[in-house]
Amino acid sequence: MSVSFDRVSDIYDATRGLPTSTSVAVTDTILNLTSATPDTKFFETGIGTGRIALPIVQRGYSYTGVDISEKMLAELQRKLEGISHRLTTVKADATSLPFADNFFDVALTVHVFHLISNWQQALAEIRRVLKSGGIYLYSHGSVYENSNQDKFDFEQKLQDIMADYDFPLPRYGAIEEEVLDILREQGATLETVVAARWQSELTVGKLLEHHQNKVSRHTWHLPDDIFARVIQNLRDWSLQRYGSLDYDLSGERIVKIVVVRNWA
Ligand SMILES: C[S@@+](CC[C@H](N)C(=O)[O-])C[C@H]1O[C@@H](n2cnc3c(N)ncnc32)[C@H](O)[C@@H]1O
Repeated sequence: MSVSFDRVSDIYDATRGLPTSTSVAVTDTILNLTSATPDTKFFETGIGTGRIALPIVQRGYSYTGVDISEKMLAELQRKLEGISHRLTTVKADATSLPFADNFFDVALTVHVFHLISNWQQALAEIRRVLKSGGIYLYSHGSVYENSNQDKFDFEQKLQDIMADYDFPLPRYGAIEEEVLDILREQGATLETVVAARWQSELTVGKLLEHHQNKVSRHTWHLPDDIFARVIQNLRDWSLQRYGSLDYDLSGERIVKIVVVRNWA
């Protein structure tokens, strides 16, 4: 089982986009870590709308990406209309890649493995298509640098309310440590790099709005009537817990990349 992002393809960039300086820092880090040259062949599983890929493609590199969401891929291609580029996108499942063995120099996955139930197979496929000696860059997603207890409480409360209605948050795929454990078991050498950090502005009201607009997968499994009740309960609880929807949840976020070597 996987989670397609078809339903949010039109709002993904507006709701998940990285600040420009963060995006530049992430791109520079990736190109430096991989010592990229014009011949380097990049590959990304779950490329989405190209949050990571697009800036690399715009710098002229050869890049191939797969995604199960046709709409996410269409959004990415739309952004390249009229521009000469070396991006190939294919609608395909991460667990069955339509590429030859030993084909790409660099593989990336960013914020995808939590969505794929057979993530072990997706990992095996990446290993198969990566050239011997190739580099794999793994990022579970951007996270708060320090624990943000106020935000954590909000997310936990959302989960508790959904569980109370017998619709607990589904666990689709892997947590980060599970992926890293397998990579270590398979003999890989791992190095963690913080590619970027930035101050993320957030209030309780904005976070509530985020869930109310079904921006993230957390509430996608709820029937409409339950969804409405969950949001109402969450709003009532938030007003009690934080006193105001303007309560500040801002914090420093980071993009962490695990550099995987000696694996393929
Ligand atoms: C959270 S988005 C991340 C997109 C991109 N990597 C980024 O960082 O912006 C996850 C993407 O993975 C795709 N996806 C989920 N399961 C997949 C699978 N089994 N095979 C390929 N893509 C998948 C979704 O459709 C979505 O576009």
